[in-house]
Amino acid sequence: MPSGERESATMAVTRRVAELRREGIEVLDLGAGEPDFPSPGTAVKAAQRALDEGRTKYTVLEGTAELRALLADRYCAQGAPWSAANTLVTVGAKAALYQLARAFLSPGDEAVVHTPAWVSIPAQVRLAGAEAVTVAMAAEDGFAIRAQPLIAAMTERTRAVIVNTPCNPTGAVASILDLERLASACAERGALLISDETYERFVYDGRRHASVAALAARYPDTVVLVGSFSKSYAMTGWRVGYLLGSAEVVAAAAAVQSHVTSNATSFAMAGAEAVLAEEPPESAALVAACARRRQVVLRELERVPGVVCPPPAGAFYAFPDVRACLDEACPDSASLCGRLLDEARVAATPGSAFGCEGHIRLSFACSDEELAAGLDGLVRVLGRSTGRVVSSFAAGGRAG
Ligand SMILES: Cc1ncc(COP(=O)(O)O)c(C=O)c1O
Repeated sequence: MPSGERESATMAVTRRVAELRREGIEVLDLGAGEPDFPSPGTAVKAAQRALDEGRTKYTVLEGTAELRALLADRYCAQGAPWSAANTLVTVGAKAALYQLARAFLSPGDEAVVHTPAWVSIPAQVRLAGAEAVTVAMAAEDGFAIRAQPLIAAMTERTRAVIVNTPCNPTGAVASILDLERLASACAERGALLISDETYERFVYDGRRHASVAALAARYPDTVVLVGSFSKSYAMTGWRVGYLLGSAEVVAAAAAVQSHVTSNATSFAMAGAEAVLAEEPPESAALVAACARRRQVVLRELERVPGVVCPPPAGAFYAFPDVRACLDEACPDSASLCGRLLDEARVAATPGSAFGCEGHIRLSFACSDEELAAGLDGLVRVLGRSTGRVVSSFAAGGRAG
């Protein structure tokens, strides 16, 4: 029987962009959550070397000993008592989250999830047969991930609280205080606190990323960290992610993995080892580019009166409130994204995909040129919808 779960809305946008491009139609893609940077040279060379050396066979299920040790070291430096045995390398962070859902959630169980949420988090909970109890974070608070409303939604059936910080699609983050409160509440009730920190490097305005790694020593059986090489190192296609937690959590997620994907790709892991062994400068350059592009997006959106966009604290998405642009012909975020694609050839993702109508998600991980042209079209269409656009001069000059 089909699960009833539909294709990921973000992937559907990516697919639509690819279709249009195949038809020869130029699309400005502010939809994809994929850095425009190439993968670091050190990763590419290491993978090529691994292929040349015949690292083309199955590895141990949990990932290479080298990669697991390097990952554990990275998070030990943040205070976690984790070793290679607490580390599982997965086929992207997506598989890590899915395996956790399959290992720890069953029909009748609940997982508490904040919204807006990355599309796959509640979907994976449902695929495991459990209920995703969604809790809306406050727009007035910039969608900051707060512990109190999440704790209030916990019941005796709660097996996990899943947070994503920095958050896709809002860029909002959880403070270490909120994470600590959540860890304590989860520990009291025997639930897991799963923290998807795929965007850990992308934090702005001098902030420091708050990670559950810093709480692992105090809550060793409770906190689980999920991460990825996809965004931090522009290695989306390599499909390497990971989770770290108690040995019991690792064993349970590995058991699922043993029936689903087996090990992550052998030579892709060689590339991942290389970037952990020697930090490539490209990663910091990517974060710096995103910080600059974030300013461009915020400045351009200010040109449309009525469109409100809290500055994202992290990740590489803006999540503006576009309710001022909705009308009878275009009543929701999905139809507005359709209009953007039809009239300006700009791809964006509807907020409804993330459980938050009235917003759209704009990715600023694309190139400067694509971003500038995309924002031009976007501002034109949104401005037509509200009947007003402030000139770029009045808004403080064109984005550079
Ligand atoms: C919040 C979040 N978690 C996990 C992932 C998946 O990352 P990976 O490519 O490692 O599977 C994504 C990808 O968009 C994401 O946005």
